Amino acid sequence: MFGELFPEAVRYAELLADAGVKRGLIGPREVPRLWERHLLNCAVLSEVVPEGVTVCDVGSGAGLPGIPLALVRPDLKITLLEPLLRRTNFLQEVVELLGLDHVTVVRGRAEEVLGTLQPVQVVTARAVAPLDRLAGWGVPLLKPYGEMLALKGDTAEEELHGARAALSKLGVVETEVLQVGEGVVDPLSTVVRVVVGESPGGVRFAAKRAKAARTGRTRRRR
Ligand SMILES: C[S@@+](CC[C@H](N)C(=O)[O-])C[C@H]1O[C@@H](n2cnc3c(N)ncnc32)[C@H](O)[C@@H]1O
Repeated sequence: MFGELFPEAVRYAELLADAGVKRGLIGPREVPRLWERHLLNCAVLSEVVPEGVTVCDVGSGAGLPGIPLALVRPDLKITLLEPLLRRTNFLQEVVELLGLDHVTVVRGRAEEVLGTLQPVQVVTARAVAPLDRLAGWGVPLLKPYGEMLALKGDTAEEELHGARAALSKLGVVETEVLQVGEGVVDPLSTVVRVVVGESPGGVRFAAKRAKAARTGRTRRRR
């Protein structure tokens, strides 16, 4: 799965098992299953990420799925977005130690970096929030016709069903549940894919963003 960057993947697994556990970023019980449940489970997301696009991994935590994705896909430009300083410090160290020049770490909450972060083609996320809330944070970060890929468990279909109205308001025009990782992970990883039309975040949001871009200003809330 990791090809030439397998040594870097091993280094990342070691960092998670050592500093990651000591600094409370990952539970000690995860250590024996780091490869299947975390590195591989996340790396297989690459099957559904288009070639050469910009990606924002929302709520990256200790770098999942962003770091495994970066290790298998040097063609991507990936931003790891995470609000907690303890986690962004770890992420920055990992990026430097592994020499991942195509990865940038940004500290912030998705809903707060809107307007400062360049819109991306793909948003990824795992274990951040229920789909309707996650979409409210992730979809507005997309470019027109971009897509959000959320790694979900058994509840994927149910969450998608419950989020339909919210997704439609956010300008989502297509949804599907995919299984990825054939021959790599068992069980397969489940991905909810939502694609936006020309107005990510919804028509009102798109109008606001376009106006801010024209005037070069964003109004601050008091
Ligand atoms: C349960 S952890 C999952 C971390 C990682 N994605 C994983 O799968 O191991 C959820 C992460 O989402 C981050 N988070 C929560 N709300 C967020 C928001 N509004 N914007 C960006 N990140 C957020 C948290 O700080 C935390 O690191």
